[in-house]
Amino acid sequence: MESSNDSIWDIVLLNTFIISKKKFKVYFHRKTLIWERETPPHSRTSLPVNDIIAVKYLHNSDQSCCCNVDNGVESTHQVFTVHFVVQEKQNQWKYKRVDLESSDHRQVTTWVTTLDSMLTELKHRPKHLLMFVNPFGGRKRGLRIYKEVVKPLMDIAGVKVDLTITQRSNHARDILLEDNLTEYDGVVCVGGDGTFSEIMNGLITRTARDNGVDPNNVACDLPKPNLRVGIIPGGSTDTVAYCIHGTTDIQTAVIHIIIGESAGLDVSSVHNQTTLLCYYASVISYGYLGDIIRDSDNFRWMGPKRYDFSGMKKFLANQGYEVEIKLAVNSSKTEEDSKCLKDCKRCASQKDLTSDESSVQEWKVIQGKFLMVNGANLSCACPRSPNGISPYTHMGDGCLDVVLVKHTSILNNLRLLLTLSSRLKSIYDLPFVDVHRTTQFSVKAVSREATDVSVWNCDGEVLVDTSIFIRAHCQLLQIFFRGVEPCLEEENPRCFCFL
Ligand SMILES: *[C@@H]1O[C@H](CO)[C@@H](O)[C@H](O)[C@H]1NC(C)=O
Ligand SMILES: *[C@@H]1O[C@H](CO)[C@@H](O)[C@H](O)[C@H]1NC(C)=O
Ligand SMILES: *[C@@H]1O[C@H](CO)[C@@H](O)[C@H](O)[C@H]1NC(C)=O
Ligand SMILES: *[C@@H]1O[C@H](CO)[C@@H](O)[C@H](O)[C@H]1NC(C)=O
Repeated sequence: MESSNDSIWDIVLLNTFIISKKKFKVYFHRKTLIWERETPPHSRTSLPVNDIIAVKYLHNSDQSCCCNVDNGVESTHQVFTVHFVVQEKQNQWKYKRVDLESSDHRQVTTWVTTLDSMLTELKHRPKHLLMFVNPFGGRKRGLRIYKEVVKPLMDIAGVKVDLTITQRSNHARDILLEDNLTEYDGVVCVGGDGTFSEIMNGLITRTARDNGVDPNNVACDLPKPNLRVGIIPGGSTDTVAYCIHGTTDIQTAVIHIIIGESAGLDVSSVHNQTTLLCYYASVISYGYLGDIIRDSDNFRWMGPKRYDFSGMKKFLANQGYEVEIKLAVNSSKTEEDSKCLKDCKRCASQKDLTSDESSVQEWKVIQGKFLMVNGANLSCACPRSPNGISPYTHMGDGCLDVVLVKHTSILNNLRLLLTLSSRLKSIYDLPFVDVHRTTQFSVKAVSREATDVSVWNCDGEVLVDTSIFIRAHCQLLQIFFRGVEPCLEEENPRCFCFL
């Protein structure tokens, strides 16, 4: 299969072109496009074919020069454009273009047809996407993001997009449950954590149903959806997008999707005794964060500031909650090995892990009074908390970090918040924080007083069940993603936040 196409990658092209009125030697060899200034000052740009998103003839009418008027006859084109992406900063990709001009139109035609056929060989690139835009989310920026950033780039890359502007909650979910999805290469949303959660829930539920699996059964092995998922941040909270892309930059997210590389994301299912309650990819939290989400709902009129307001209230209240936690343990120690970065070896080694192989050895029971209990799936970093709740959690290793924050003093709570907002410190180092790595766990509220019972904050949704079971599903979703680069230590934006 590969061999018939090998020859196309052996092609070498070498010509001279004019770029920005200067003469450049341009060559294509070993999947790399290079343009080099022939006269001083020398400059050389090298571009892997994987960073090229499109190669097109430039119509002469766009040109300021006086070339022959183009009548749609392709062979008379004397300029072509390479549309490409570059990594400008850490984790940030930008779209760029370069126009190459030659007096020989046959030379231009050769380059365009050759480069274009190479791009056609990149089979992982999506050609047809189902896209959902939440027009109400966050600062109501969804549609503008789509029109100004997403659509133009998708058009350049030649990706066909079927757009739905969601009109109500569960609109996207209902479409994913009912429509014929066979023609799509992926599902993309422009929105926040809530929109992503809906897509994730819809896609997993649909796939389970198509395969005759009952998701209410906690022991079931959920089948992996065929469609890859893309996340373009446009909500009031973009935790998942930030975790995955290492930034909330919109263009970067679109570029990840167009380039078409993907990685597995762990998803956890949350159950009560009888029923599946939800899936989540980032964090589920009981106690402090649950109370904030419940309390802030009374102050919706405040906008996003309500989280800070309720956070302050709950921070000063410093309430503790009695719970009993049962953890499936294999090795009792949490490995504080490494963060989950690009080409993570830990995630790669877990790819084929099934629930049988990771069979539970024993259950560990913990009882106590806690400020909060978190089940973190991603590291859950956000721009306000660069290392997140659980910096060493891996994106696709099939494990959850259960982070237990003991009920202590307000001063310790302050230390916790300061540590969360620091890029250099980890909450693992705090003496009143315990972290356990597991594949499944249950939590039961054991307070007698109703006022001592909190609620669960599951990706921003409130769950009132006081006895739940959580299970991780290794790399259940494929996410469009080129990999996160290691952080530079000197970047240390300090901030203070309650979430
Ligand atoms: C879904 O669409 C594909 C192609 O568009 C078609 O082949 C297939 O039969 C459809 N499936 C259903 C269940 O309608
Ligand atoms: C579990 O949750 C479902 C859906 O919310 C609810 O109908 C059911 O009563 C709950 N079961 C228990 C035992 O709490
Ligand atoms: C659990 O422990 C057993 C024996 O200690 C080991 O063989 C197995 O690989 C472990 N499973 C996981 C998921 O770590
Ligand atoms: C989500 O759950 C899966 C199962 O552990 C886990 O592998 C993944 O790392 C988790 N993500 C988080 C956030 O824990």
